[in-house]
Amino acid sequence: MSSPGADPRAGEARLGATFLDADTIRRRVDELGQEITRAYPEGDLLLIGLLKGSFIFLADLVRAVERPLSVDFLVASSYGTGTVSGGEVRLLYEPATPLAGRHILLVEDIIDSGRTLASLTERLRSRGPRSLAICALLDKRIAPPPPDLRFVGFPAPPAFLVGYGLDHAEAFRHLPYIAELG
Ligand code: PRP
Repeated sequence: MSSPGADPRAGEARLGATFLDADTIRRRVDELGQEITRAYPEGDLLLIGLLKGSFIFLADLVRAVERPLSVDFLVASSYGTGTVSGGEVRLLYEPATPLAGRHILLVEDIIDSGRTLASLTERLRSRGPRSLAICALLDKRIAPPPPDLRFVGFPAPPAFLVGYGLDHAEAFRHLPYIAELG
């Protein structure tokens, strides 16, 4: 870990240590793309990005998967504006396209308590996909891993992390690296 110094993207906010720099993220996302490419030789894959946090990860990941695929989104919220994971998962949007018989890969930025994924995978499974797996960029490993977790970018520290899609009160999503909140 290193200290990022002042970043004009963060305004007056103080960021803590950098956890992952942009090059490290890029290399691992490319590897994940290759892992997914090998895991789905038939293609015909639907990647579902969990918004908002996964939007940058998903955009980079889909360009690293060398199979036919399509993209859709889920919109859920569990944190509000605090730094502690809340218990309630509110689902605001789910794909209108049929999921029955399809290979579904749910793309998540970070697994914290795991409540979000537990709730959403149950809901997706009820729609009869051919397969269901999770790809998470970061896993805090606070709780036992979700049974559908198949692809993980990095284990993550218990700190509150921002950047590369992750926010605090909607700020910092656009940082090209991931840092601790100072
Ligand atoms: C955050 C994060 C994960 C989820 C992880 O989303 O992006 O989706 O919480 O927490 P959990 O494992 O404890 O359920 P948030 O609700 O903050 O929405 P966002 O993606 O719009 O930032």
